Amino acid sequence: MGTMSLRLLLWITLITSLGCARGAFSPPDNYLIDCGSSSNVTVDSRAFAADRSSSWSLTTPQDILASTSSNSVSSFPNSALYQTARVFTSASSYSFPIRSPGRHWIRLYFFPFSYQGTDLTTAKFSVTTQNFVLLDNFQVPNSSAPMFKEYSVNITSSNLILTFAPSGDSIAFVNAIEVVSIPDALITDGAQMANPAGAFPGVPTMAMETVYRVNMGGPLITPLNDTLSRRWVPDQSFLLERNLAKSVVSSAPITYQDGGPTPETAPQSVYGTAVEMSTASVSNVNFNVTWEFPVDASYMYFVRFHFCDIVSKNLNQLYFNVYANSWAVARDLELAKVTAQVLASPYIMDFVVGITDGSGKVRISIGPSTDVPGADTNAILNGLEIMKLNNSAGSLAGQTSVSDVVSPGSKKSMGPILGAVFGALAAVIVAVAIFVVFRRQKLAKKHHSKTWGPFSMNGGISHSLGSKFSNGTLTTITSGQHTILSFRFPFVVIQDATNNFDESWVIGVGGFGKVYKGMLKDDTNVAVKRGNPRSQQGLNEFRTEIELLSRLRHRHLVSLIGYCDEQNEMILVYEYMENGTLKSHLYGSDHPILSWKQRLEICIGAARGLHYLHTGQTKAIIHRDVKSANILLDENFLAKVADFGLSKTGPELDQTHVSTAVKGSFGYLDPEYFRRQQLTEKSDVYSFGVVLLEVLCARPVIDPTLPREMVNLAEWAMKWQRKGQLEQIIDSRIAATIRPDSLRKFGETVEKCLADYGVDRPSMGDVLWNLEYVLQLQEVPARDTDLDSVNRIAEIPLRVQIVSNSENAAEEGVENASRNDLSGVSMSRVFSQLVKAEGR
Ligand SMILES: *[C@@H]1O[C@H](CO)[C@@H](O)[C@H](O)[C@H]1NC(C)=O
Ligand SMILES: *[C@@H]1O[C@H](CO)[C@@H](O)[C@H](O)[C@H]1NC(C)=O
Ligand SMILES: *[C@@H]1O[C@H](CO)[C@@H](O)[C@H](O)[C@H]1NC(C)=O
Ligand SMILES: *[C@@H]1O[C@H](CO)[C@@H](O)[C@H](O)[C@H]1NC(C)=O
Ligand SMILES: *[C@@H]1O[C@H](CO)[C@@H](O)[C@H](O)[C@H]1NC(C)=O
Ligand SMILES: *[C@@H]1O[C@H](CO)[C@@H](O)[C@H](O)[C@H]1NC(C)=O
Repeated sequence: MGTMSLRLLLWITLITSLGCARGAFSPPDNYLIDCGSSSNVTVDSRAFAADRSSSWSLTTPQDILASTSSNSVSSFPNSALYQTARVFTSASSYSFPIRSPGRHWIRLYFFPFSYQGTDLTTAKFSVTTQNFVLLDNFQVPNSSAPMFKEYSVNITSSNLILTFAPSGDSIAFVNAIEVVSIPDALITDGAQMANPAGAFPGVPTMAMETVYRVNMGGPLITPLNDTLSRRWVPDQSFLLERNLAKSVVSSAPITYQDGGPTPETAPQSVYGTAVEMSTASVSNVNFNVTWEFPVDASYMYFVRFHFCDIVSKNLNQLYFNVYANSWAVARDLELAKVTAQVLASPYIMDFVVGITDGSGKVRISIGPSTDVPGADTNAILNGLEIMKLNNSAGSLAGQTSVSDVVSPGSKKSMGPILGAVFGALAAVIVAVAIFVVFRRQKLAKKHHSKTWGPFSMNGGISHSLGSKFSNGTLTTITSGQHTILSFRFPFVVIQDATNNFDESWVIGVGGFGKVYKGMLKDDTNVAVKRGNPRSQQGLNEFRTEIELLSRLRHRHLVSLIGYCDEQNEMILVYEYMENGTLKSHLYGSDHPILSWKQRLEICIGAARGLHYLHTGQTKAIIHRDVKSANILLDENFLAKVADFGLSKTGPELDQTHVSTAVKGSFGYLDPEYFRRQQLTEKSDVYSFGVVLLEVLCARPVIDPTLPREMVNLAEWAMKWQRKGQLEQIIDSRIAATIRPDSLRKFGETVEKCLADYGVDRPSMGDVLWNLEYVLQLQEVPARDTDLDSVNRIAEIPLRVQIVSNSENAAEEGVENASRNDLSGVSMSRVFSQLVKAEGR
């Protein structure tokens, strides 16, 4: 009896202290705004203030407050907030004074209603902070449902400036905004990388977007019931096989311990429910309970697991495994051990996961441990949070960084920046500035219907590519120490050549814009790449391309013939490649099949082009988007590498050019990127290894229609290569013609290219030599192999000669080939000897 009442007392104390803890965190910064509203609104016991207040400021050219009397949102949570909105016709910024630096929620509410003839569903805009892009070219996807977005950003300055900028001629709007402090302890710097295992430092400075927050085995938890006004949704809809999972609910209190998770980490209601294996009481079963969460695979995700052992009767009974995207993130996890031998005490694990398996999903599994004899056959999970992490462009919504969103078109940037600095005085300046910009744009529009942002060639190359060009004549100009040859085409010439950008002449579409086939007056075929006025990346890419391509001349690189920057156009003119992409000759078309020898020659050509990029200039150039669609074939099937818009000089040679934005194509991307956040020449080697497999197997690098283990070509092929059975998966149309030795060497070369670590991969020069060798192994029987040692010695000067040839070429300014480039001369003669030597 005595113990009973003592226990009761303890429980009561515990519950009361929890009650206090729950109210313990009061956010130093707590802005809740019902935008466009003239009255205060209370939602979930939280007071959203009427628009306009003295505690924060808004710089916007016009006050447009919109409201709707429609009750179409009444069935949605927070419907009261969606009845009004603030509308922005040009870039506008809120400035929130930050009392306490650190991580803050930024929560945005959007519902696109119609207001006085303006349909907000058409609104398209970006939302940025000083450092991060939260939304870009964003349009509410479903006009009949509201959209709620939650971000968390570590704010270290004394103000948060939240800018809403319409895309192009569109408008922007928002229904409600929250900016609220988060306790410092909620997200700290202890995250681990799931694969490859290791610490993942730096999370505290990153921006996050909440993509999923799930209460396993429990009900919806609304902001009203959460300690930090979060929403936790039930897990059923994410379960892969519902019949394998069972919900558990515990009414006993949860013990939050010092140094461990607090009620702010997640409330009782999250830890008090869990999902366990449906066979919890059965021993010797072994399966996983799996949840799948569709995500954008081009980002990394911060995944927080919430555990609390509410199922065990005794300590040391429950051991289980936890997986994220097939990687074990915890083996034989024993909750009692990590919670100081207290049951029903919360425990969290933070992991960062990259989606490299082609699934486009974060897949979380739990399963019983099989290593601990006598343990319960069970596994649990109580809660899960999945947050998108900003990419290297500082964005949660694409490759455009804040400076790119805000700078092109001063119309966008001037409002916020000046406004914040000069306050009311600036309003006048802004108005004038906007007026001037509008005027200019109107005038420009009169001249030419396609008006692009105010772009002039004022990158690092304006001095060399200035206005001294005559009317479409070949001009030789000097850029640094390089002699370059380029045409500057008048716009009318380009219009003529492309039949005024005839849509039926389009031969390709890329991130930069459309590619047209064109024909110049002298019947030369050209490929005309016209920058898309909406592509934010365009300006940078345009500069990069002209700058790079003008310097680079090589037999295996697609040459730039000229460009056009008249009337703010961004047009590049390239040599036309009659036979299109390598990809189109491998699969998905009715082109005649390429023989193994042809394929090898193409690979060797492309390898030469890449080798030249890596070594031909004082600074290595990383292509960054090596793929079969970027290897083009001329009328003789000579391979040329295309698309340097994504190129950057190598990181170790030029620290200012460390890869700032991951570009590249899915399925080809170097997995090491996820570890080091940097692309190197070895990333190109990896991608090239994938191309080699594509050439061998004639299938897409990612094919979601295939069974799971076959989806990713690199993974699938390496499985067979390691078994020594690569021949099982090669293009059946040519399988019989490939000599086993040639295939073996090819497989080894691919395997080296695809090594996990860049340092273990060969250089492009080594790859080139290996491919020459592969070709030789294929050709051996057809050749005269009767070489003697005299011949072999005679081969050595051949190499020297190649080098000096290319030097001469460079001097003549015809082909600026590298000293290290193994030029266009085939090395097969050298190899025929090596093969023979090996045979001895
Ligand atoms: C809204 O609430 C604030 C503070 O809570 C108060 O100062 C203000 O007068 C209220 N506004 C209206 C329109 O009720
Ligand atoms: C849009 O939202 C409504 C209301 O929730 C829903 O019924 C409808 O299915 C949604 N449409 C799409 C295309 O998601
Ligand atoms: C915010 O970032 C700063 C570094 O810029 C760091 O020192 C601080 O710990 C971070 N705060 C949180 C709560 O992560
Ligand atoms: C949420 O809070 C309300 C009111 O305080 C309460 O009635 C309800 O049971 C709570 N729900 C959960 C899941 O805790
Ligand atoms: C559970 O999932 C992991 C990761 O996908 C897998 O390696 C393991 O074999 C699975 N266990 C069972 C019993 O299916
Ligand atoms: C996200 O932003 C932070 C701070 O700007 C930066 O340090 C980090 O590298 C970015 N994340 C990635 C994956 O690049």
